[in-house]
Amino acid sequence: MRTVRTVAELRAALAEPRRNGRTVALVPTMGYLHDGHLSLIEAARKQADLVVVSLFVNPTQFNDAADLDAYPRDELRDAGLAQDAGADLLFAPSLQEVYPPGFTTQVRVDGPLTDTLEGAHRGADHFHGVTTVVTKLLNMVGPDLALFGQKDAQQALVIRRLAADLDLPTRVEVAPTVREPDGLALSSRNVRLAAEDRERALALSSALRAAQDALAAGTRDAATITLAARAAMTPFDVEPEYLALVDPEDLRPVGSVDQETLLAVAAHVGPVRLIDNTILNPNGRH
Ligand code: PAF
Repeated sequence: MRTVRTVAELRAALAEPRRNGRTVALVPTMGYLHDGHLSLIEAARKQADLVVVSLFVNPTQFNDAADLDAYPRDELRDAGLAQDAGADLLFAPSLQEVYPPGFTTQVRVDGPLTDTLEGAHRGADHFHGVTTVVTKLLNMVGPDLALFGQKDAQQALVIRRLAADLDLPTRVEVAPTVREPDGLALSSRNVRLAAEDRERALALSSALRAAQDALAAGTRDAATITLAARAAMTPFDVEPEYLALVDPEDLRPVGSVDQETLLAVAAHVGPVRLIDNTILNPNGRH
């Protein structure tokens, strides 16, 4: 695996394989890779001839300067993990390479996809930062396929919308959330959880499980399911920032879980903000 830092180097590295008809997959990341990222790289490996992993902590999608400062970074560790998972190229550009002086363009997806849930709590600018950098990464790499994780369910919907609206030629694939054996969804931010907060972080997956259980017991009413999910967080002394049952395509709130419904939750656990989600399926466990 080679590490490249400029768009020119990246394009030069991809030119020959592309001329030979080889397909390219991109796994965009902000680094501090975990098994969720590695599962995306492995899925990419199975579907494309060349796998590019991008590693860029994108400042424009952070609404909280302290979160950006504390975001874990270790390029050497990431390079080893990406290589072992089957990446061919690590694209690790500098801030200047991505946002050169004079940069003023933004790519925005507007409406409920970006102003609800994460958008309502972090500000829609969070998603405008994501869609701008993802558009740039797709333009830099020009992949046939790009892979994202379902843990960021709203982000995945926004990126699908972006790709459809702008006729981007890249196929967007969303892979399932990878969890610790006790249910905690993998996140680069988990390393910042102190031991006692690591226990309390189970509040989120416990809420999802309680909602699944309520549904399995025959409850369809969204308010009742939401109450059960919130109650499951109480023993962990964790208050959700939001916990919402929404349509999994347009994120509009639902009153009753009569078809597949997205349950999304966000909460601060100590200094770390975590998100998680699941699809509730009244016609069988998801
Ligand atoms: O999901 C992430 O890690 C980031 O939001 C992404 C897609 C790499 C854009 O910075």
